[in-house]
Amino acid sequence: MNNPESSDRGSWGSKIAFIFAASGSAIGLGSIWRFPLFVGLNGGAAFVFSYLLAVFFIGFTVMLAELTIGRHTRKNPVGAFNFIKPHTPWKLVGYMGVVTGVFILSYYSIIAGWAAGYFYKTITGAFRGQVSWNNSAAIFTKFAANPLEVLICLFIIIGLTSYVISKGVKGGIERWSKILMPVLFVLIIILAVRAVTLPGAGPGLSFYLKPDFSDFNLKVILFAIGQAFFSLSLGMGTMMTYGSYISKKDNLVSSAGWVCLSTTLIAILAGIIIFPTLFNTLQLTPDKFKQEFEVSTGLMFQVFPIIISKMPGGYFFGILFFALLLIAALTSTISMLEVPTAYLVDERKWSRTKAATLIGIVSFLLGIPSALSSGGVKFLTKFNYMIKMDLVFGNIMLAVGGLLISLFLVHTWKVKNALKEISHGNSRFWLKGLWVFDIKFLVPIAVIIILIFIKTLAG
Ligand code: TRP
Repeated sequence: MNNPESSDRGSWGSKIAFIFAASGSAIGLGSIWRFPLFVGLNGGAAFVFSYLLAVFFIGFTVMLAELTIGRHTRKNPVGAFNFIKPHTPWKLVGYMGVVTGVFILSYYSIIAGWAAGYFYKTITGAFRGQVSWNNSAAIFTKFAANPLEVLICLFIIIGLTSYVISKGVKGGIERWSKILMPVLFVLIIILAVRAVTLPGAGPGLSFYLKPDFSDFNLKVILFAIGQAFFSLSLGMGTMMTYGSYISKKDNLVSSAGWVCLSTTLIAILAGIIIFPTLFNTLQLTPDKFKQEFEVSTGLMFQVFPIIISKMPGGYFFGILFFALLLIAALTSTISMLEVPTAYLVDERKWSRTKAATLIGIVSFLLGIPSALSSGGVKFLTKFNYMIKMDLVFGNIMLAVGGLLISLFLVHTWKVKNALKEISHGNSRFWLKGLWVFDIKFLVPIAVIIILIFIKTLAG
């Protein structure tokens, strides 16, 4: 934050600092909880494969678009649209991001709360000794259905997030996560090595990595695109805000590339842990899995304790893992709250504390039905309330946000201005042709198809 060229607003100290901060936002429950869940729900390797393509062609494209608009305007999303094209409805896209952020925060915090609960459970020895599937599944079901415990965890997560944002101590968190995220990475690699060396890992790996042509369908591809938006924190202005602090000297293209790469790597490794472990424990085959196994939102919470219990020193591994997962989740919730807060502070002149407290209270209230939808209250559970929220805000709204950002860049700001901004700090943009094609055609077409086939997604 000591770059002289924008001393009043602050900027990242270096390119690496930006990559760490943006990866902190991107890497989180989206990669470790949501990715394996959707792999399980959508036919395994076909989803993995579609996701990789979606990240490369759509995620990277929209990320570069957001970073470019952000760096050019040096503003929060609402201000950014207003800056390039004042007094037009474009700023509504910024507002949409603000609203989407609050809703995603409301249910994302519940999963983060589960991570907090599991951190506590691991310390108190709930997973000591060999953990079987039945044990682990029962512990999760009981925990997720307990309204009081889940609401307390939700309160803790939203409270911590609001506190960090209101005190503006985000910088401190980022310094810490710079040290802790590499530790998470190493830990995940160690667990992945353990998982693939389990007897019977083969069928799990082939479900996960060997695409079967008959598994590809529109729904798989649409959810993979949604997952690309979600996992890379795109479509609601988070990356625009982060881009607004990047120096003109830094290379936006390679920065975006590194964030996409690190996030994808963590997601792929999470699946390499989960599927071999699950297939080993339940002696599944890909066919048996597809026919008999019921994938629930608890998937990662049911499986990680099993693999951790198979590690020497599992008790400490477990505590370390859930602590790091919790921190990864918090760096993401903080980045979600950042957009609505920046808007209220910059454009409405609220104090940080007031903004963060109010949004915290609203997200907590909005989160209550989601918290009770994993067994706590029957009709919410049957309605699959949390998954519905995720469908609307985590898939559709983000994709629509990404579409509008692309349309704005291409038709209002113009590609040539964007390319000029990108050229600062980057003399040779070798994916230029592809990026221009993607932002002009591929992203809009893909999202419009999503909107046409919304029913397919919901069904
Ligand atoms: N990408 C984060 C994750 O995968 C979640 C997240 C943080 C997010 N900020 C966001 C998702 C903004 C969408 C938009 O855990």
